[in-house]
Amino acid sequence: GGVTVNGAVVKDPSAKIDENSASVTAEGRALGYTEFRWLMLNKPEDTTSTTEPGDSKSVMKLLPPEFSGRDMFPCGRLDIDTTGLLLITDDGQTAHNLLSPKHHCEKTYRFTCLPVDEEAAAKLEGGIELSDFTSKPCKVNMTDSEHGEITVTEGKYHQIKRMFHAVGSEILTLERIAFAGLTLDPSLERGEWRELTDGEIALLMKNNG
Ligand code: URA
Repeated sequence: GGVTVNGAVVKDPSAKIDENSASVTAEGRALGYTEFRWLMLNKPEDTTSTTEPGDSKSVMKLLPPEFSGRDMFPCGRLDIDTTGLLLITDDGQTAHNLLSPKHHCEKTYRFTCLPVDEEAAAKLEGGIELSDFTSKPCKVNMTDSEHGEITVTEGKYHQIKRMFHAVGSEILTLERIAFAGLTLDPSLERGEWRELTDGEIALLMKNNG
């Protein structure tokens, strides 16, 4: 008896509604309708970006049960020890577009590393020849020789770690702080998530074309 559709109580669980025009309330609260869900997670260390139900370390385990009936999945992958911004959605088409190599979606990572000098930083920016591909030019801003931020437009397996290894350094910690124009919400603790705002979703839609 707590649910109303267009002002009338509806108790029939099979009742059909027009999701775009119906006004629905539950326990007196108006419910909005969105076809897809978009979440921003601050990924903690020691979690994986897989969706396998048997994987006890999956980031999906951090979400409440209301999301388990939807086909939610992480939009891209971060290594088990990488932290920070990970989007989770059930919008397959937009996620596919954002992750497509054609799309050149920008991703920014804050890192700590074994010391990198100016010459090595310049090499990273210019593109690094790795065993299976050459990284595209990117932006590296070093705060000092062991800290900085890097913005890349690709997302190959272990890419940042492999790039640093190739110039004689090693990544020690890696945190994604921006993805496709969205920045990690500083109020999210590691392991916390929130829904994207309408403005953030609009930005993603604009950036996924
Ligand atoms: N590059 C890496 O090496 N690891 C990540 O998790 C993301 C980018």
